[in-house]
Amino acid sequence: MSPSPVIPEANAAWSPASWRERTAAQQPQYPDQAALSETLAQLQELPPLVTSWEIQALRRQIAEAAQGQRFILQGGECAEHFNECSAAIIANRLKVLLQMSLVLIFGIRTPVVRIGRFAGQHAKPRSADSETRDGRTLPSYRGDLVNGAAFTPEARKPDPKRMLQAHAHSAMTLNLVRALTNTGFADLHHPEYWNIDFIRRTPLEKEYRQIVESIQETIAFIETVSGNPLRSLGRTEFFTSHEALHLPYEEAFTRHVPHNEGVFNLATHFPWIGARTADPEGAHIEYARGIANPVGLKIAPGASPEELARIVRMLNPNADPGRLVLIHRLGADRIGALLPPLIRAVQASGTPVAWMSDPMHGNTELTETGVKTRRFENILDELEQAFDIHAAEGSHLGGVHFELAGEDVTECTGGASGLNDADLMRAYKSQVDPRLNYEQALEMAFLVVRKKKRMENASAI
Ligand code: PEP
Ligand code: CO
Repeated sequence: MSPSPVIPEANAAWSPASWRERTAAQQPQYPDQAALSETLAQLQELPPLVTSWEIQALRRQIAEAAQGQRFILQGGECAEHFNECSAAIIANRLKVLLQMSLVLIFGIRTPVVRIGRFAGQHAKPRSADSETRDGRTLPSYRGDLVNGAAFTPEARKPDPKRMLQAHAHSAMTLNLVRALTNTGFADLHHPEYWNIDFIRRTPLEKEYRQIVESIQETIAFIETVSGNPLRSLGRTEFFTSHEALHLPYEEAFTRHVPHNEGVFNLATHFPWIGARTADPEGAHIEYARGIANPVGLKIAPGASPEELARIVRMLNPNADPGRLVLIHRLGADRIGALLPPLIRAVQASGTPVAWMSDPMHGNTELTETGVKTRRFENILDELEQAFDIHAAEGSHLGGVHFELAGEDVTECTGGASGLNDADLMRAYKSQVDPRLNYEQALEMAFLVVRKKKRMENASAI
């Protein structure tokens, strides 16, 4: 690999507020600037959600995933809503992710890095600043962090106080996740605690139960042979992520810590930059450039290989292998043409990255009746192509990124239970993007394993 050329941007002064010198896309217009400043000052005094040690641990694990020694499973909500911050929703979402990770660990024999899209996923980019219905125009809904979804002037008015609520809801969510994953609930001796009521209805149930039984037998065997209980199986590591979209909020949690060097975003372990704000000249890349967290970058079909190489060098000037995760979301019909030149440009930049596939956001479509959906077969198709393309380019797909729910929602079609367009209205709950339901998500984990095994068998011949 050739050494990276010196990038002027990488040496420019950075501070948690230096993004303010750039154009920030997708930001709300707060009518009351004094109220905004007051809330931001309050946020700066509130406790963070995560620690720098956890962030550094994740960075090390991402470095291993980039090399194929770990596999990253990132999943959760397109958008969290304050009125969905309930025990059942949080626990079920966690259960699906735990079950998926168990299937992956067992199937591909690789440790899995679990990253939730939750505990902070409250801000959404929108295609237009305003929305018109029946001749009336109001600001677009930008996520609960900013305004309300109801189509009324009161709800749609950006309210800075919502940032305090977002912090509180993130803390409540993470508190339950931490409690569950640190105690008996996540204990691998008892994976039956992760069962979701309606698992009995899924065709995958048998296969999943066999995995659970096999793991329990193995644990019992090792404990018998060693004469000691495997205590380390009692807890499960879990990280959080969200789109670092609303920069004033992110800045308020971007802090120095006493015992570690660098400035950390302590609102989440793994912030990512969305496809709509990935402008190399823009405020979001400037913000991401200086924080010590691992950072994700979404890559959409419009991305040019040259520009991507430039952003990659800006975000990872020290060529740290755990620093940058590129999450492509190109669509099943375009990934074949678009991904190879992007991979080559990043390889030519000499900058190490971890690659992930988000097979959701490039495969969104409208049904004949105008319902936003995603087809299971397209999601799987993009994912399988992603594995093959990376392998063909001498690269490596280090993880997958899904929007999913632990509920029996009907938002995406297809999968083993054969949901079709007509079924969508039965339990369509998302106010933003369509999510895989519990059964579809678990099936996807099985299919990732199947794909990885096919690839291993093919390369062993
Ligand atoms: C998202 O992840 O919900 C999202 C908006 O994705 P993207 O930035 O890839 O469009
Ligand atoms: Co989404």
